[in-house]
Amino acid sequence: MKIDGTPYRSVWLDEQDGWSVRILDQTKLPWTVDILRLTTVAAAAHAIRSMQVRGAPLIGAVAAYGLCLALRADASPEAMERDAAMLGATRPTAVNLQWALDRMLAVLRPVASADRVALAYREAAAIADEDVAMCAAIGRHGLGLITDFAQPGRRVNVLTHCNAGWLATVDWGTALAPIYLAHDQGIDVHVWVDETRPRNQGALLTAFELGSHGVQHTVIADNAGGHLMQHGMVDLVIVGTDRVTRIGDVANKIGTYLKALAARDNMVPFWVAVPSSTIDWSVSDGVREIPIEERAATEVTTLTGRGMDGAVTTIRVTPSDSPAANPAFDVTPARLVTGLITERGRCAATAEGLRGLFPERG
Ligand code: MRU
Repeated sequence: MKIDGTPYRSVWLDEQDGWSVRILDQTKLPWTVDILRLTTVAAAAHAIRSMQVRGAPLIGAVAAYGLCLALRADASPEAMERDAAMLGATRPTAVNLQWALDRMLAVLRPVASADRVALAYREAAAIADEDVAMCAAIGRHGLGLITDFAQPGRRVNVLTHCNAGWLATVDWGTALAPIYLAHDQGIDVHVWVDETRPRNQGALLTAFELGSHGVQHTVIADNAGGHLMQHGMVDLVIVGTDRVTRIGDVANKIGTYLKALAARDNMVPFWVAVPSSTIDWSVSDGVREIPIEERAATEVTTLTGRGMDGAVTTIRVTPSDSPAANPAFDVTPARLVTGLITERGRCAATAEGLRGLFPERG
């Protein structure tokens, strides 16, 4: 996707040296387009932990490249296992992280240390390229959900939560991919963008992405969605996900569950865009089995934004002695999900629906 006319992926190899890893620092967006150069596995782990990169598919791809950087320093089996475990511990909820590392290790374990670096870069590039292809396919399979509402003179209103656009993947995004495609095909699509406290990925990143692409959008407070649905102002909800269980439960950014409840009460379709790299076939009951990341209380007690003087600044928004809690994700039970949009097509959020599209998972 493009920023100011320049095409970007959200992770790529440095064109000059061919081995260091470039990312957009998402903690600086939308105020500054700051490109970072990662040269060590520690820097890659920090980028994931501090959310310089975030979004389930992207942290998987950056972890894969992080392992490449680790192997450049030490390609012995012991170091590889240690560094992969360190990368895997950076964020617990999005399954793409462990999925990418497991895929890398499965390829790298059987080969001699001397051959590992080249093979690792090849596999990381495949993970990144496949993510782009999966997201593009999700766009195609989700497009019909939007065109179903499109009529001459009628705007289609989609509500989304957090950022599941190209910044959260390698390119295109998951939930936003059908929206970009609809927009590019001339459909009058408008997006209600949940601000997504505490880190405001919607207000900062989704609004930035949609604006850069020329998609009509309106940022709303997280609490506004239910009201908009009650008044017929939302045709459908499309969100991304960090982990989907084999029966279709959906972990996503905190607050997603409340949107699904409001959508059900108002008979608004609630769709989840999910590449197969985000499906955890080993887990059934999402509420009990998916680990929910607990992040720093300061993400709740503070807000960062641009002051009227143009300077980016952080302010405290709670009394200084009030404690805060910060569960970063929640689980929407499958019964509240209208359906899943995968790279192989759409299906019900059920074990049978998923098995129908992925029969090899039995
Ligand atoms: O904490 P984040 O910003 O990494 O959380 C991101 C989300 O919850 C996204 O909705 C999810 O990863 C899907 S990204 C295509």
